[in-house]
Amino acid sequence: MKVKAPGRINIIGEHTDYNDGYVLPFAVNRFVFLTIEDSEKFVFHSENMNETVEMERIEKLNKWTDYILGVIKAFEKRGYRVSPVKISVSSNLPMGAGLSSSAALEMATAYAISEYFGFHLPKLELVKIAREAEVEFVGVRCGIMDQFTSAFGKKDHAIFLDTMTLEYEYVPLKLKGYEINLVDSNVKHELSSSEYNKRRQECEEVLKVLGKRGFREVTKEDLKKLPGVLKKRAQHVLEENERVLRSVQALKEGDFETLGKLLFASHESLRDLYEVSCEETDFIVDFLKGKEGILGARMVGGGFGGGVIVLSKKSFFEKIKEELNDAYRDRFKIELTFHEIESADGVQKI
Ligand code: GLA
Repeated sequence: MKVKAPGRINIIGEHTDYNDGYVLPFAVNRFVFLTIEDSEKFVFHSENMNETVEMERIEKLNKWTDYILGVIKAFEKRGYRVSPVKISVSSNLPMGAGLSSSAALEMATAYAISEYFGFHLPKLELVKIAREAEVEFVGVRCGIMDQFTSAFGKKDHAIFLDTMTLEYEYVPLKLKGYEINLVDSNVKHELSSSEYNKRRQECEEVLKVLGKRGFREVTKEDLKKLPGVLKKRAQHVLEENERVLRSVQALKEGDFETLGKLLFASHESLRDLYEVSCEETDFIVDFLKGKEGILGARMVGGGFGGGVIVLSKKSFFEKIKEELNDAYRDRFKIELTFHEIESADGVQKI
């Protein structure tokens, strides 16, 4: 059996999904392709890594196989027996670019196992299994956005998701005269997962200091009661949530100028208040600001490298790509990679 699961790009709502907040991602037309078949023992093959791993029993190896193994573990924890299989994967999703190739691999695995063994679990349960793999097995305490989007993505739509209630709405993504590109900075700083977990801790600390059960109860008034760093973190979350709501409105009205301004504002907040951007992604965003036809840009995903989403009028970004790459190369001695992004449907059989 063959399945494919897409990556995702988040238009806006960064570092809100583990704080009961709002996000506005969409599934992208880049996928993890996965084949599952009978086998005597567990065999995992990655075409991209050019590697085959055989296993008698599940063991963490601190590499790509962990995403698959974490999913198998999560099924077993729920009482579903997963007998040995061969799982082969290939992908056209760039890794570390902020498009969530790991969530796509988890989602493809979860869906394939569920269908292959006849468990036929509902998609939301698969999302929880995929996320549990990342949190408990891989060890990154991520939110639910990436796996949710890989499962529920819908072509020509973004997903406005309330991560507290898991209620969601498909918002038409009618780009008409506009386009979305992703610039991959091609850097991934070492501290990305440790700092990610640290941000989560700080947000838990915010709730503790304020004596609140969840972020939805935190108000702007409360910010005054918080010490320095915690105040900055909380302010980002509150304002980012507002930006998501305004972005949903702007998208519905086809007001891309407003949407673009919100993207720039989100980046500033991630840089100054949440402190998860880095020199390289800041450089890209600063370069783009004020350029003709560029409406907005910001870092996407967890941060500390990865990608920058760019919203522009059609064909305007094309004109300055080279100039941006030259400036970036001069400054960091690294080449950028560019991806034009389109929306796609969620995980499915092929
Ligand atoms: C990573 C996580 C997501 C989310 C983003 C930041 O991509 O996997 O759950 O927290 O970072 O918005």
